[in-house]
Amino acid sequence: MSEMRDLIATLPTQLRWAADLDRPRVPPAKSAVVAGMGGSGIAGDVAAVVAESESTRVTVHKSYGLPSWVRDELVVAVSHSGNTEETLSGARAAVAAGIPWVAVATGGRLLEDADASGAARVDIPFSPQPRAAFGYLAGGVLRVLEASGVVGDQTGALREAADVVEGALAGPAHEAASEIADRLAGRVAVVYGGSGVGAVAANRWKTQINENGKTPAYWSALPELDHNEIVGWSAHPELGRESIGVVFLHDAGDHPRIALRARLTRELITPTTTVAADVSSLGVGVLARLFSLTIVGDLVSVGLAERAGIDPAPVAVIEDLKKRLATQPGGST
Ligand code: PA5
Repeated sequence: MSEMRDLIATLPTQLRWAADLDRPRVPPAKSAVVAGMGGSGIAGDVAAVVAESESTRVTVHKSYGLPSWVRDELVVAVSHSGNTEETLSGARAAVAAGIPWVAVATGGRLLEDADASGAARVDIPFSPQPRAAFGYLAGGVLRVLEASGVVGDQTGALREAADVVEGALAGPAHEAASEIADRLAGRVAVVYGGSGVGAVAANRWKTQINENGKTPAYWSALPELDHNEIVGWSAHPELGRESIGVVFLHDAGDHPRIALRARLTRELITPTTTVAADVSSLGVGVLARLFSLTIVGDLVSVGLAERAGIDPAPVAVIEDLKKRLATQPGGST
């Protein structure tokens, strides 16, 4: 049993921590930009789906600085370490432009910058890896957005998500993940979701398989993939059948035509690739449905690491790259 497998099982605890968090004191706003990268930045993707479901707008920014149009939005800078240069650059752009911002981090320069500039901060409990703090980071960002008025009360939704994930972790998610990992082992995973919940979940599956499974993986969303990627399965059927495993993620919130497209796309690509699994979301609310899909992907990713005989936790190449960047001119950390 790997440490990462144990960390993944803490997701319900993390979601309940976020539900119990005292509502942070942050400036009111109608819309927000969440700046963050990798295992932290996906908290913004979760927030964007929640906001969309409430007919408000959260834009996710995964680069340096801020989008040029940002004026009246609340900027939420989220970084597990608090030291990610792109995220620090976004926070510093907000300070320079006098745009209200909030830091969500375990420590680092981001929290120091928040204190120095008088911005609000949400301190997240530390996890050994950012991607293992998914519930803390997404929940913390959501509670900030709730406090600013960009989204409504998230406490009930976070609790439902915790309950649904806990139920999945009691057995079904492990069983499903073990079968899927058997089918994906030694293959490149391609994960397809619908727009919204399915797309964010597919992205999380991909990054978890990359980082925990140390394996290439890719994701796409319907309906867009029906307008290009679907053609890519034609010319090299041996490649698709022997080296790739496609996973379809289904969500009750999918547009009916997207659900239909998933079924038809599956039928059309089956002769030329290996369809490894179909996974359907559980629960009622957006968060429960989203985390019910990601928890299976998280378990698949550690299952792949275990089958390859590797420790899922370390991401040495990311750390090496960050060190190399820090020694070069222009690093903001
Ligand atoms: O999984 C990882 O380690 C990365 O994707 C990090 O989350 C990413 O590099 C950003 O770092 P941080 O989460 O500390 O802002």
